[in-house]
Amino acid sequence: MCGIVGYIGKRNASEVLIDGLRKLEYRGYDSAGIAVFEEEGIKVVKAKGRLDDLEEKMNLVGKPKGSCGIGHTRWATHGEPSDVNSHPHGNSRITLVHNGIIENYLELKERLAAKNYLFESQTDTEVVAKLLDYYYDGNPFETVRKVIENVKGSYAFGIMFADFPNQIFAVRKDSPMIVGLGEGENFIASDVPAILKYTKDYYLIDEDEIVVLEEGGTKIYNLDHELIEKQRHTATWDIEAAEKGGYPHFMLKEIFEQPDALRKTVQPRIKDGLPDLQVDSFTDDLIRKIGKIHIVACGTASYAGMIGKCAIEKLARIPAEVCIASEFRYGDPILKENDLVIVISQSGETADTLAALRLAKKKGIHTMAIVNVVGSSIAREADSIIYTWAGPEIAVASTKAYTVQMSVMYLIALKMALALGTLSEEEVKGYCGTILSLPEKQQQILDQSDTCKYFASRFQNAEHLFYIGRGIDYALSMEGSLKLKEISYIHSEAYAAGELKHGTISLITDNVPVIAVATQENIYEKTISNIKEVTTRGAKVLLVVNDRFEVNEDIANYVLRVPTTDDILIPLLAVIPLQLFAYYTAVLRGCDVDKPRNLAKSVTVE
Ligand code: G6P
Repeated sequence: MCGIVGYIGKRNASEVLIDGLRKLEYRGYDSAGIAVFEEEGIKVVKAKGRLDDLEEKMNLVGKPKGSCGIGHTRWATHGEPSDVNSHPHGNSRITLVHNGIIENYLELKERLAAKNYLFESQTDTEVVAKLLDYYYDGNPFETVRKVIENVKGSYAFGIMFADFPNQIFAVRKDSPMIVGLGEGENFIASDVPAILKYTKDYYLIDEDEIVVLEEGGTKIYNLDHELIEKQRHTATWDIEAAEKGGYPHFMLKEIFEQPDALRKTVQPRIKDGLPDLQVDSFTDDLIRKIGKIHIVACGTASYAGMIGKCAIEKLARIPAEVCIASEFRYGDPILKENDLVIVISQSGETADTLAALRLAKKKGIHTMAIVNVVGSSIAREADSIIYTWAGPEIAVASTKAYTVQMSVMYLIALKMALALGTLSEEEVKGYCGTILSLPEKQQQILDQSDTCKYFASRFQNAEHLFYIGRGIDYALSMEGSLKLKEISYIHSEAYAAGELKHGTISLITDNVPVIAVATQENIYEKTISNIKEVTTRGAKVLLVVNDRFEVNEDIANYVLRVPTTDDILIPLLAVIPLQLFAYYTAVLRGCDVDKPRNLAKSVTVE
């Protein structure tokens, strides 16, 4: 989704803004723009396309000169990607960048049109720019306050008033925004990577707070114009963590970071061989009372939730269901007093997941969040929070966040199993010991990434591709299929292997590629039968299989072996070849792996 950077200090603002926006490219965007205070007033340059297109335009029309400005990458919602729809919006008095969606923009537009305001773009943001202009009476604070009283929806705004060339105003609701605190310079940004080159210190902005950014300091007020004392946070990772470090893509770097991310997430949470989630509210007493678990998330996080469901039901025997957040929030879910809602989100800002969390809280249900970004909205609002320690995930396609989300779900399942007595202490210790040994096995797979590259070369020209698996392998197939389609643009579907014959098998003809995942002993033979059903119809099969199983040579065209471990834990290993397969396929097809078309890393709109 959109990215915002604002800067005030001594440096060349255009350069700081473009540099910061580059660090936010991962969020997904289709146009960009900046506004800088020049001696003669505010200069705006904006362009459809990538930041390179914006820089090209700046070279033509002149780079804005000044040391205070705001910048924006836009992911189009209202109105196509175009120069005129790009941000900043406004006029010579007021300039605005916005992340989020203004829900009542049509009503506001009508009100403003009646007051003779004209609109040139199709955006909701331009309406806010005009509303700022309408209320502006020389007092920027009051103007911002009146505007946020009138708009409905989600927003992070960065605003400049021509009369106040030494200040930037910012405010947010349901869209992320931080303030970066430097020496004699300050920043606003949608995320930490944008400021890391200059400072690691930042404030998190809360709702109903108005930020006034100045060169020498930052003041944050409540809506009554009283100063607020904010807690200073310091990023625990440095700029290298948000750079490619010699890898051709962030996605590959992040795939290779998985052993480390897994270690960092699980090691501190296994004490004396047993899970210790360090969540005070997650007591044995609470666990014993749980009626049902609702796991709510979007995209890859929901597939980590599916693995979590399998683990909880198998190990702790508590019924669990996985709900896509956008369905859950409007689906009138049946939530009972002793249910538990677990939300999973890498960014902690996904609009639907946040709304689902709020809904559950409103109904008085205990909520637990598994989140990667410290201090994000979901992390702050959940009753209990378990952070994954994956470090920054920049590539749009989620990889390391998925494995650590799964690892936390396993620890939750084991903690529940212990509390309920469905597993003995020895058994739980056994699983925990195995989890601690998995980073090494992940490394073994990564060391053979060339094999996945070879398989990718065999399938790279496919137009359609099917993934099949049963049970936990089906959940893994869903993630494998999502990875492939989002970055390589090959149409792909995941099917429960036994379900294929109820319709979809009609699409299996000569050379249609099928990736079969078979890692579970209890259903292995069943999956093999399903593979036979597709090979008989001419499918070209790549079998991803548990190394422990004997595989007849003629069962598949290609076989990819995954180091063996407890069957229930094998997704922590088996997903890696699926990620590498998708990655190499996309690279071989010449796709923009880290920034796939139309996708955004952090989806802060419904
Ligand atoms: C977007 C991203 C996905 C991600 C999903 C949920 O669609 O492209 O990679 O899985 O959002 O994001 P979250 O931050 O909530 O995990």
